[in-house]
Amino acid sequence: MKIKTITQTFAADVYQGLKSNPKSLMSKYFYDDEGSRIFQKIMRMPEYYPTDCEYEIFDTKADAILKKIVPYNEPFDLIELGAGDGMKTKLLLTHFLEQKADVNYMPVDISEEAMNLLTNDFKSAMPDLNITPFVGDFYDALSKIQHVDKRKKVYMFLGSTIGNFPHHKAVSFFRKLNKYMSSGDMFLVGFDLKKSPEIVLPAYDDPHGHTAAFNLNLLTRMNRELGADFNLGKFFHYAAYDPITGSAKSYLISKESQKVYFEEFGEPVLFAKWEPIFMEISQKYDMQMIKRFAGDTNFTIMDNFYDSRNYFVNSLWEAK
Ligand code: SAH
Ligand code: AVI
Repeated sequence: MKIKTITQTFAADVYQGLKSNPKSLMSKYFYDDEGSRIFQKIMRMPEYYPTDCEYEIFDTKADAILKKIVPYNEPFDLIELGAGDGMKTKLLLTHFLEQKADVNYMPVDISEEAMNLLTNDFKSAMPDLNITPFVGDFYDALSKIQHVDKRKKVYMFLGSTIGNFPHHKAVSFFRKLNKYMSSGDMFLVGFDLKKSPEIVLPAYDDPHGHTAAFNLNLLTRMNRELGADFNLGKFFHYAAYDPITGSAKSYLISKESQKVYFEEFGEPVLFAKWEPIFMEISQKYDMQMIKRFAGDTNFTIMDNFYDSRNYFVNSLWEAK
């Protein structure tokens, strides 16, 4: 396959993913404007339990979290990576402001629409909040935000978005974040825990069709942005959960042998009948895995905040 022009990372990543065997796409590209809207529908489905769990944790434990992150009520910058609509964070920040915390909030997200909506919403709900949004990739944000000022930094990575990284990328993400942090800075990270497959699978294989639409929307995005000619009717969404590894995985399956053309690429992408595109991993964890992550990447676990069903944990780490 020859490539005509690679002007953007999106084109280069898609090209690389679709010429690999097995084919794959990066799930960070799900979040164009429409993708962010579909994700909000996913979060509202009864089957999608992680949002409810993390909401419950913040609803019941915001004060305990605040006391652990700033025990002396010291001023701090709260940097949220992949903030999305910020619905759960709003709960935390409302409590923090009620407690007169001196907090500057810096949400980061690759989705411009999500960032605009969050910023407008937070400004009207919390007029006293000092908010500086950043639209872009986590890694760009980390390198730019680090030098902003000398206040204590508290990073947040919620929703178990870490589960969308394969294991080795999760480890390198934690290591990189740790390098940007100063000793004593903190990190609140959400992990979806291993639980019955009968609970996990419907969250990714829902009867409303939202998760299927979320995956298929990336084909629409490639059609629009890369001049591709995917026929969405020729693919279907398939999700599976492996209770041994704790990995939920999503695929789009080609219903027939077909060629897909991209204006950006020289040659078509060929699909065999039933060939999958691996779209996303949503890893589920146990506490042993979480302890190993922290231990291997220069963090100390300060506390763990669970929901009442023990489905989810917000783990609070300190940089050594
Ligand atoms: N933390 C929120 C949203 C989770 S969805 C919650 O728990 O509800 C994941 C979010 O991360 C999306 O808003 C998506 O746009 C953003 N995202 C995914 N990959 C990203 C990347 N590489 N850089 C910046 N943001 C990213
Ligand atoms: C953002 N992330 C944690 C979601 C998850 O559960 O893996 C993305 C998602 N994909 C399908 N449904 C939700």
